[in-house]
Amino acid sequence: MIKIGLLGCGNIGRIIAARAENVQVVAVFDANPGRAEELAALCHARPYTDFDAFMKEDFSIVVEAASIDAVRRYGEAILRSGRDIIVLSVGAFADDEFRERLVEAAREVGKKIRIPSGAIIGLDNLKIGQISPPKKLLLRTTKPPASLGMTAETRTEVFKGLARDCIKLYPKNINVAVALGLAAGRETHVELWVDPAVERIIHEISVEGDFGEISIQVKNVPSPDNPATSYMAALSVLTLLKNLENPLVVGT
Ligand SMILES: NC(=O)c1ccc[n+]([C@@H]2O[C@H](COP(=O)([O-])OP(=O)(O)OC[C@H]3O[C@@H](n4cnc5c(N)ncnc54)[C@H](O)[C@@H]3O)[C@@H](O)[C@H]2O)c1
Repeated sequence: MIKIGLLGCGNIGRIIAARAENVQVVAVFDANPGRAEELAALCHARPYTDFDAFMKEDFSIVVEAASIDAVRRYGEAILRSGRDIIVLSVGAFADDEFRERLVEAAREVGKKIRIPSGAIIGLDNLKIGQISPPKKLLLRTTKPPASLGMTAETRTEVFKGLARDCIKLYPKNINVAVALGLAAGRETHVELWVDPAVERIIHEISVEGDFGEISIQVKNVPSPDNPATSYMAALSVLTLLKNLENPLVVGT
């Protein structure tokens, strides 16, 4: 059974720890000791608040469900220790220099950085953009104001521009925009809206290229414990873990 170390014991970490199949969570790490202990008890793992001690445990993959800061701080050390890493805080890769450094580290040690589809659908075949670059790649995201820690009386556009700039302003909220760009091989244009009339997080993806046009709409249930996070993101990681050793690989 594949052994994993969980980096981040918040909302997504808790769902992963409670529901992971075919894998064993052996160690959990969080800056917050209470969260690490609570999750460790839930999945019979050992809790850590010290990264170096966490890394002495026996696991082959780290699942990062913490923050952009955590990816920047620990990503390279995880890879260089000979582990793969699954990254949810994809926004860290909006920084080209950091991303290239991490990819180079992974290449040098023969390890992988895996980015799950997270809170959206369609990353698999959007990769055709790496061969036939899309002319347009737009993500229009609409969230309940509370998920951005805001109040608003009417539908309001809070950001319009490039994903790399949006993630600087909303580092916890627009990871999917960066994931789309990495898949398609070009920067994503983002419109971020808040709307007091919506209860779900709505991602509308529009792509145009030589291959035709793509329109995807995803309406995500916000997680009860963290309205900024979609439940689908946790399910996406669980699915990636479930399929790690499956010889039948579906999707591009
Ligand atoms: N890719 C996607 O589609 C997608 C979707 C949802 C969430 N996310 C991202 O996944 C991450 C986790 O989401 P969540 O809802 O579980 O968040 P959360 O805030 O509920 O939990 C994060 C946990 O990580 C810990 N943490 C953060 N930075 C740390 C660090 N540097 N060192 C140690 N511990 C640290 C925090 O103490 C917290 O317990 C966030 O970055 C979020 O933006 C990505």
